[in-house]
Amino acid sequence: MSIDSQITSAGDLPPVSELPVQKELPDPFVTLDGRKITTPEEWNEIRRPELLELFSHYMYGYSPEEVEVKFTEDAPPTEVLNGKAILKQIAISFPQLKSENAPQIHLALFLPNQPDHKSPVFLAVNKCGNHTVIPDEAILTFPTTNLHSYCDNPEKGDRGAQLDYWCLEYLIDRGYGFATCHVNNIDPDTNDFTDGVHPHFKDIKGPVESHWGTIAAWAWGLHRCVDYLLTDEQVNPECIAVTGHSRRGKTALWAAATDERIALCIPHQSGTGGMALSRNNDQETVKRINDVFPHWFNDTFTQFNDNEAQIPFDQHLLVALVAPRPLMETSGLKDVWANYDSSIKGIREADQVYKFLGAEGIKGDGIINGGPVTAENVGNLAQYRLDTKHVLELDYWKGILDFADLQFKTK
Ligand code: GCU
Repeated sequence: MSIDSQITSAGDLPPVSELPVQKELPDPFVTLDGRKITTPEEWNEIRRPELLELFSHYMYGYSPEEVEVKFTEDAPPTEVLNGKAILKQIAISFPQLKSENAPQIHLALFLPNQPDHKSPVFLAVNKCGNHTVIPDEAILTFPTTNLHSYCDNPEKGDRGAQLDYWCLEYLIDRGYGFATCHVNNIDPDTNDFTDGVHPHFKDIKGPVESHWGTIAAWAWGLHRCVDYLLTDEQVNPECIAVTGHSRRGKTALWAAATDERIALCIPHQSGTGGMALSRNNDQETVKRINDVFPHWFNDTFTQFNDNEAQIPFDQHLLVALVAPRPLMETSGLKDVWANYDSSIKGIREADQVYKFLGAEGIKGDGIINGGPVTAENVGNLAQYRLDTKHVLELDYWKGILDFADLQFKTK
């Protein structure tokens, strides 16, 4: 059966009250109006665009589409980590914004010090500032409003405070670059849209209650960083990976789902609104996340509080939007809030889309319990588990880079 390519537009989408009640996870291969997807072409031309529209409209929010970016050096490139790495600091600005307080994204890009080489790069937003990655005075700091209270604590927010979290030297030693910017450059993490990017971009699709929340804004900021990375001749344009922890893991997943220039995704302990399903989530419910963090998703999403069965998708379909690109969720067995049990259900559901699109998808049961990630135990979709709490540390990076090595080996 052939189906006409018909991308749903925001105006065509029903109000939440008219959406069908689906207690089971929505079928990846059935469109909102009940049509069956039977070929990869139909997936790409019909279902994928429809899902992007549904997730934007009802959950994360629509972001600005056309945006001009300008790159300038915040500082000349300099050596760090005793000459093992080069640090480039780039300001990403938006020429169409004329106001004095127009936002800028300050990207710190650390690359293996190999001038004629193109390195794979991990990209992530950070919580407290670029200077927390390593204790090096060369890393610039920028004034901000609404700094997260956690970062006010000198132990958390100081130079190099996240040394054992990002493990930069380990990444560099394994041949990877790392690019990062502070979330506050894009949008401070408060229920207040008067700062950050939101007030500056007016031309946004869809009704105002469907406009971008903070997570969509952070993901959009990652896309602007990708715009830069693709211009840097020391970056391998086919090997740009995104990651992020917890709320920033939700961000990495939404960023990868919405931008096919991102080649690999590692959502780390991302939980509700990330890899964990909204349906039957016995840890963080949709209502709880909307009540405590009303700014993360769009306003329409609050209509699914205690009403998950009317969500016309679930998070397995966000993984499906990343397909056929590699994705490995990393989770901690002692992390009692991010719901790794729920995520693996979603991963197994999404696997059918990976295989349908000709990718390897999961191997075995899809779970890797610590240790090395090898061609024997992983396909290109997996969950990697370590016996930790809600943290990011070296053992995660070992698994992550093993996975990335396997996925990038031909690029
Ligand atoms: C809260 C929130 C989670 C989130 C986490 C984090 O616990 O409920 O959804 O993932 O913060 O970002 O650390």
